[in-house]
Amino acid sequence: MPNTEEISIRNQLNTKFIGHQLYYYPKLTSTMDIAKRKAQEGADEGTVVIAGEQTSGKGRLGRAWLSPQGNLAMSIILKPPLDKLHQLIMVASLAVVRTIKRVSGIEAEIKWPNDVLIKGKKVCGILIENEVQRDEVLFAVIGIGININLDPLATPEISSIATSLASESGEEIEKDKVITALFAEFEQLYLESQSGVPIYQEWKYYMGTIGKWVQVKAGESVERGQAEAVTKRGNLILRRADGSIAEIVVGDVTMIKDKSDH
Ligand code: BTN
Repeated sequence: MPNTEEISIRNQLNTKFIGHQLYYYPKLTSTMDIAKRKAQEGADEGTVVIAGEQTSGKGRLGRAWLSPQGNLAMSIILKPPLDKLHQLIMVASLAVVRTIKRVSGIEAEIKWPNDVLIKGKKVCGILIENEVQRDEVLFAVIGIGININLDPLATPEISSIATSLASESGEEIEKDKVITALFAEFEQLYLESQSGVPIYQEWKYYMGTIGKWVQVKAGESVERGQAEAVTKRGNLILRRADGSIAEIVVGDVTMIKDKSDH
């Protein structure tokens, strides 16, 4: 039987296709696993899996993602052409920034590649997993986790690095409103990006990483430098202390003080 949150999401739905196929689970392991299974079984583009709570949420680069009740955990199935696949990073993070502004009035920023921060603390993480065969995208699953009503102080593991919409705005935020706003912003940006409307400039505008001294780790490789730009493909351009340039495709960014900080 659908629960009240699910009914409320369905009633407020104002999209062309995102969320029309909606699977809502009060509790599951990870929306990524269920969404991938649905996609392999042929789910339509725009199918969404939402969890009230995840018991083994997945983060980027093999990390775990805390996903208690009151937060948003969802995965969206999309099927973009291969030459537009790289834009999903921009679509997803920008959609979250716009949604946060819409539901709380708060201006968030993006930390490369696709974390969303408020006053330097993480409010949203995004995980994108693709299945590509030769030159065809079978599907992409975009996992979005937003800290909505989490009390960071009650969660010591993440209290120094994470925040939530409720703790920043000082009031409880209705999760169904965040979800339906996110569907609408996501769909608009996705359709625009697919039809060639540039969304890169807006993504770059909200990219708080530019100008900062950062360390970027990807597996065994570590780069340090000043984040100089982001490219239209979504890569990070880093100027190392010796003046040379590195173009980073994937990695985990941490802020450092300056070039002397090791
Ligand atoms: C990160 O910042 O490391 C990415 C976190 C992504 C979390 C979301 S929550 C919904 C979806 N299901 C998961 O298990 N992970 C993503």
